[in-house]
Amino acid sequence: MNILEQINLNETPQHIAIIMDGNGRWAQKQGQDRLFGHNIGVESVREALKGAQEIGVKYLTLYAFSTENWNRPRAEVEGLMDLLIRTIAKEVDELNESNVVISTIGETSGLPDSAQKELQDAYDRTKDNTGVNLILALNYSSKWEILEAVKKIAANVKDGNMSVDDIGYETIDLNLNTKDIPDPELLIRTSGEHRVSNFLLWQIAYAELHFTEVLWPDFKREDLYKAVLDYQSRERRFGMTSAQITK
Ligand code: IPE
Ligand code: IPE
Ligand code: MG
Repeated sequence: MNILEQINLNETPQHIAIIMDGNGRWAQKQGQDRLFGHNIGVESVREALKGAQEIGVKYLTLYAFSTENWNRPRAEVEGLMDLLIRTIAKEVDELNESNVVISTIGETSGLPDSAQKELQDAYDRTKDNTGVNLILALNYSSKWEILEAVKKIAANVKDGNMSVDDIGYETIDLNLNTKDIPDPELLIRTSGEHRVSNFLLWQIAYAELHFTEVLWPDFKREDLYKAVLDYQSRERRFGMTSAQITK
């Protein structure tokens, strides 16, 4: 049986988040510039998206550029921004045709103007689609997102719009960039690194974590299916006992 056939389609996660890591190492292993790895990584984005569409995942969030990634050498940052602009411009027609809704999380106002323009065009053109929600985390970090939420909530209390006792988990949910998006049930990180690197810290409170040695440019839809199978083999207890879950 191939991997796809082993997946229980009634129990696929509705939201998968991916930390796409290992582009630089992939390129350097073959004596190429790191940017070459980023370029080939775009093909893996297509693979992950096709895989998600195939098994009925509703939300796919991809960590594409972190707040901390600005600290990389200037040429790499410029190359990544250029790649982002070119890729969105090139892919938006096909994404629209396959009914994908494009959105972002992160401080996109900090991106180059031309990237913001391409993104706005992508949101506008795909907003009425009904297929997979492709969410790009751009200039994103979870601590930034939580800090912004805290500031908004504090301002609401200060202005008398709410009291401290009104603040609940939902208040925080609703003030995050992900307010319209359910929490991911599955988080995948490629390249063998076992860390979260400031990604969706609040939202992954109960996500299943799947780490793979595969470097992002080698990632194929079968790797997504493997992660989903791994997810389906887990017992999600949410603090309860195994006996409570299986009864
Ligand atoms: C992930 O690959 C892409 C981004 C962070 C933009 P890396 O560029 O981090 O690749 P490695 O981890 O150095 O191999
Ligand atoms: C995380 O990868 C960010 C993205 C995938 C965009 P990094 O390669 O930047 O993470 P660290 O620095 O190894 O933790
Ligand atoms: Mg990395």
